[in-house]
Amino acid sequence: MSYDLIVIGAGPGGYVCAIRAAQLGLKVACVEGRETLGGTCLNVGCIPSKALLHASHMLHETHENFEKMGLMGAAPTVDWDRMLGYKSETVGTNTKGIEFLFKKNKVDWLKGWAEIEAPGRVKVGDQVHEAKNIVIATGSVPSSLPGVTVDNDAGVVVDSTGALALKKIPASMVVIGAGVIGLELGSVYARLGAQVTVVEYLDAITPGMDGEVQKQFQKLLTKQGLEFILGAAVSKAEGGKVEYKLRKDDSAHEIEAEVVLVATGRRPHVEGQGLDKLGVALTDRGFVQIDKHWQTSVPGIYAIGDAVPGPMLAHKAEDEGMAVAETIAGKHGHVNYDVIPGVIYTAPEVASVGLTEAAAKESGRKVKVGKFPFMGNARAKAMFQGDGFVKMIVDAETDRVLGCHIIGPNAGEMIHEVCVAMEFGASAEDIALTCHAHPTCSEAVREAALACGDGAIHA
Ligand code: NAI
Repeated sequence: MSYDLIVIGAGPGGYVCAIRAAQLGLKVACVEGRETLGGTCLNVGCIPSKALLHASHMLHETHENFEKMGLMGAAPTVDWDRMLGYKSETVGTNTKGIEFLFKKNKVDWLKGWAEIEAPGRVKVGDQVHEAKNIVIATGSVPSSLPGVTVDNDAGVVVDSTGALALKKIPASMVVIGAGVIGLELGSVYARLGAQVTVVEYLDAITPGMDGEVQKQFQKLLTKQGLEFILGAAVSKAEGGKVEYKLRKDDSAHEIEAEVVLVATGRRPHVEGQGLDKLGVALTDRGFVQIDKHWQTSVPGIYAIGDAVPGPMLAHKAEDEGMAVAETIAGKHGHVNYDVIPGVIYTAPEVASVGLTEAAAKESGRKVKVGKFPFMGNARAKAMFQGDGFVKMIVDAETDRVLGCHIIGPNAGEMIHEVCVAMEFGASAEDIALTCHAHPTCSEAVREAALACGDGAIHA
């Protein structure tokens, strides 16, 4: 078969690219070797973890807050198999949804693993397909840690895929790495009753996040029962035993748990596709090198998503997928890399966009910060969620919003107001002068914007 475009990989980057290209009139196929579409995100990442986060959060609410609201009676117990069933059903409806969208948009799903034989030629199984353009959207895989062998089937030392399908809820868990995966899945199991200890190399959790948010987030997770060992480099994990050295004095320690979750980052998935033979250039960190139109060093071959530099986020991949489809179709694809939100789906949620306070100051600008605590927000308090805050970073000279960091209820939804504002080059005053419905948690965003000017009302 001959196509205008063959996309390799049907994760959020690849499938969105395929659909957009088809909508723009191109003849498109998407190669995917998994049994279902959707890639890591839908099958073993974002979606199943959100199902478990939701279910365990509901359980936590029954224990923590129901009696306070006069909701009496025995709290539910966990039927782990049914919870996993609910998770699989959630995944299933979403992956089938992509299949439906492929049919609707006339995107051919080529089942199997692709190898690019030459520019314009993609081999899947025994068949070779021709394509005017190829997009590599092969995502990422968990990075390995020297001294640690992951075995998801054995279920003792696992990565995120294994942690989403444990045979039973462990009594104890050591999480290696206090990044997004470690904290999301660590809080799932802590809420389900496991004693969770997080061992992190750096001196703070969630690297790259605003310092004040990091501190508050760690405090709230500690309150929920997670323990943290910071400044600790793990060198070995075997049979539930984890060895680490404290960086401050090089002292050696050991900790043991029923399950060890290795969450020390992911690396681009670039093997097995013939990229080396084709001479597709990689960066020094192993990502596919691209130009500003997402084209690799080989003309006609493009790359997007986790396989290329930038944050490893499904929505960043989606944006690149749409943009590269537009570019290939002769339009002007564009991604604003300065306005890509990041969300951690714990409770409370943590969300951020743009510059942190430290990064804004480092950039040499004069910076103003407006902060508002959810304690001053009636809606959040009614939901027992007054612990977090909204922090807005603006340019002190122009009042232009440079970044926003939220820790609190529905932070992952609220951040988009600021994303839209930033896309339009808004000032804090623009947000402050926008009427916000009362009572909503979003009022805290407006209050933080007011705090950048003459002051918040409820603080
Ligand atoms: P991460 O890069 O976010 O965090 C890994 C952590 O492990 C770092 O804090 C690092 O300092 C620590 N670490 C590394 N080696 C260590 C060692 N030997 N001993 C102790 N600590 C060590 O990686 P994570 O959490 O595995 O996530 C991978 C990718 O997936 C990230 O890019 C993340 O953004 C993405 N992701 C995003 C989600 C979201 O947006 N909600 C959900 C899940 C994953």
